[in-house]
Amino acid sequence: MVDIHCHILPGVDDGAKSWEVATEMCRMAVSDGITHIVATPHANEQYVYHREEHAARLQELQKAAGEWPVLNLGCDFHFSFDNVQDALKTPERYSISGTPYLLVEFSDFGVSRYIHDTIYRLRAQGIVPIVTHPERNRMLQSHPESVLAFAEQGCVVQVTASSFTGNFGSGARKAAEWLLKHDAVHVIASDAHDTEHRPPVLSAGRDAVAKIVGSDIARALVEDNPAAIVAGEALPYVPAPVSR
Ligand SMILES: [Fe+2]
Repeated sequence: MVDIHCHILPGVDDGAKSWEVATEMCRMAVSDGITHIVATPHANEQYVYHREEHAARLQELQKAAGEWPVLNLGCDFHFSFDNVQDALKTPERYSISGTPYLLVEFSDFGVSRYIHDTIYRLRAQGIVPIVTHPERNRMLQSHPESVLAFAEQGCVVQVTASSFTGNFGSGARKAAEWLLKHDAVHVIASDAHDTEHRPPVLSAGRDAVAKIVGSDIARALVEDNPAAIVAGEALPYVPAPVSR
């Protein structure tokens, strides 16, 4: 499996607190069947985002982890005005290494016309936004139907694996299942931060998804689609979202 959202870089944000934790997260991921991880440090107002330093740390972590999992660099991109302006100028500073894919996290405030206009500008520049965990966003959780518009604009929708197992509460689980049943989920990812509370595990979420929509779609969400993202290719599984 391929995990495209993971706070595994040691000591850079609210993710892995130490090198020991980071290497243990690598081991846990491998034993869960994860072969590739995209390290996604936050790019927000709370943490310093320094791409070159993160890239150097990623190389160190790869050395410490050994051959597996294979590590790539992306970022957990907060959808703020300043961030978006910078990403339009230098997308490679934020995107998943060497690809057009960019994780974007919306704030809990309402979805304004500004967001859709900005998505349009990003798309026009060849960037493919990946909307992260809409099921945990307070506004989108209560209006999951508004996520369909992002999918229709060509965004990828990423739901957190453990939302399907109820770890983020019943509201997130309900919204995640709603999106899944409406063909508006393209990828599930761990959004792991540690080895205990938010571990790098995808299998439980995959199995929960399989019970709802079958194992072929579940596999696409943890293998085929995220592997294509890391390779910079078009998604092989693109369900058309439906309002029903
Ligand atoms: Fe995250």
